[in-house]
Amino acid sequence: MLSLRAKKRVRAVFAALGIGALAASAARAEVVSDPASVRGGLVVSVDPVASRIGAEVLERGGNAVDAAVATALALAVTFPEAGNLGGGGFMLVREASSGAAYTVDYRERAPRLATPDMFLGTDGRIDRRAASVGWLVVGVPGTPMGLWTAHRRGGRLAWRDLVAPAIKLAEEGFVVTAILAEGLESQQEDFTSFREPARVYFDNGKPPAAGSTLRLPDFARTLRRIAEHGAPGFYVGPTAELVELAMIAEGGLVRRDDLAGYEAVIREPVRGHYRGHEIVSMGPPSSGGVALIQMLGILEGFNLAESGPGQPRTLHLLAEAMKRAFCDRARFLGDTDFVPVPLERLLSTEHAARWRSTIGPRATPAAAIGQGLLTGTEANETTHFSVIDAAGNIVSNTYTLEGRFGAKVIAPGTGFLLNNEMHDFNIRPGQTDETGLIGTEPNLIAPGKRMLSSQTPTLVLHDGKPLLVLGSPGGRTIINTVLAVLSNVIDHRMTIQEAIDAPRVHHQWEPDEIVVEPGIPVATRAALEAMGHVVRVGPAQGDCHAILIDPATGEFIPGADRRRQGGAAGIVARPER
Ligand code: DON
Repeated sequence: MLSLRAKKRVRAVFAALGIGALAASAARAEVVSDPASVRGGLVVSVDPVASRIGAEVLERGGNAVDAAVATALALAVTFPEAGNLGGGGFMLVREASSGAAYTVDYRERAPRLATPDMFLGTDGRIDRRAASVGWLVVGVPGTPMGLWTAHRRGGRLAWRDLVAPAIKLAEEGFVVTAILAEGLESQQEDFTSFREPARVYFDNGKPPAAGSTLRLPDFARTLRRIAEHGAPGFYVGPTAELVELAMIAEGGLVRRDDLAGYEAVIREPVRGHYRGHEIVSMGPPSSGGVALIQMLGILEGFNLAESGPGQPRTLHLLAEAMKRAFCDRARFLGDTDFVPVPLERLLSTEHAARWRSTIGPRATPAAAIGQGLLTGTEANETTHFSVIDAAGNIVSNTYTLEGRFGAKVIAPGTGFLLNNEMHDFNIRPGQTDETGLIGTEPNLIAPGKRMLSSQTPTLVLHDGKPLLVLGSPGGRTIINTVLAVLSNVIDHRMTIQEAIDAPRVHHQWEPDEIVVEPGIPVATRAALEAMGHVVRVGPAQGDCHAILIDPATGEFIPGADRRRQGGAAGIVARPER
């Protein structure tokens, strides 16, 4: 129950936001889990506890940015597979009052000691282990600076109050979900061999059982420094010193200078159109928005509604659009602070039309699309959440450690996992092949450079009003998951939940195959094969946590992906008893 003072504060806040009905009637705001729809604000994330923490911030008068900061920090505690302090990501924000949108790029950067061939052995081959786990693959973390930067630009509540719920979770403990228990169990070998993660997450060498309480005291101390000093409490001082100490001892490259010099960047989003809707998404150093807008541009020339969702013709056209955009991604995309990227051309309707004209009723071989480019595995461990507040401010945020639990290393005493994001660079210069390895120049390693991402936090508007907030994890599949959900809503008029639940497909140019979720029927797969596609059944694709703003009623409708454990929390106004 809220105290009388708190109730007054909530009403005052709603009044300040212009929520007249709530302010005038004696209504009180209340946080509800998994609502069908709400008007007072909504958070949808992979973790019901983190969603609720975000919604409670909204209830206390915080805006969408405040709620996003609190949700992200809570996820760093409760969902360590991807939620993080030691990783990075991208936040897309739209301000309701001005209609302006901006992005916060808090992508990890290569440390100053990094070199283009740092993952190659003396035989010129990739050292697969070093390029996926351990100290060498760690990029300079961006998350604390990203959240701090977003808060300084758009937050309203006090910073320390947004860190407080995460500190409480870490200090007092939280209930281990079945997903986390299974995740930690699966890491027993690596966590034990890297020692500190086992000390932090295991009890006498044993992973915690589902339903048990997990406390993270080191993590809480790191968070307290962040609460007190903001991002500098992470990037300089004891946390940075502990990270450097471990890096030097273990052969990693990140140094105090890299941490002290890390900057998050406010960038313009990329924009495009699809059947009368405006698409606002993340530009470089993510490839997500560019590839999404390219694919939509190609698909706009086909009537997908006519062939229908999940039908062979629809999936064929999606796959053909995917191949072409992913080929451009390999050829052109990288960190625009380091390499020129022909963004205007890639996003143009002319370019989309040219690609479209090369699509026929049969599959085009990937090699034919990428002529001159070819010279000769990605997991599901990022996380996306979507937030809207009562005033209509929006945050679409994707962030990650890259692989599940990142590099699986923790600097002793800090309590948080470090990312393995260096893996997202093109780590074998010059080698682009049918296995999906890309060695093109724009995304080669350079000191200070941000590695190319596929994260696609996105916002869709119709008639200038927000309609859809969405994003997903899944490496390169992210872009195609966002494409599928968006097309399901716009082309096939599905509800947001149907759009999320529908089985997905993925093509990334190379390897030349369509990977389909098990839900795609056998007959559909056979029809695609008859068109010349190679079809492979893969695991569940993505984890999209979205919000639809009902154009008729203005209500916020959550779409939580149940492929993992998604959950929404929203604010409703209840009449005073
Ligand atoms: O930034 C990227 O595109 C990848 N590091 C994201 C990794 C990912 O999504 C893995 N699992 N979901």
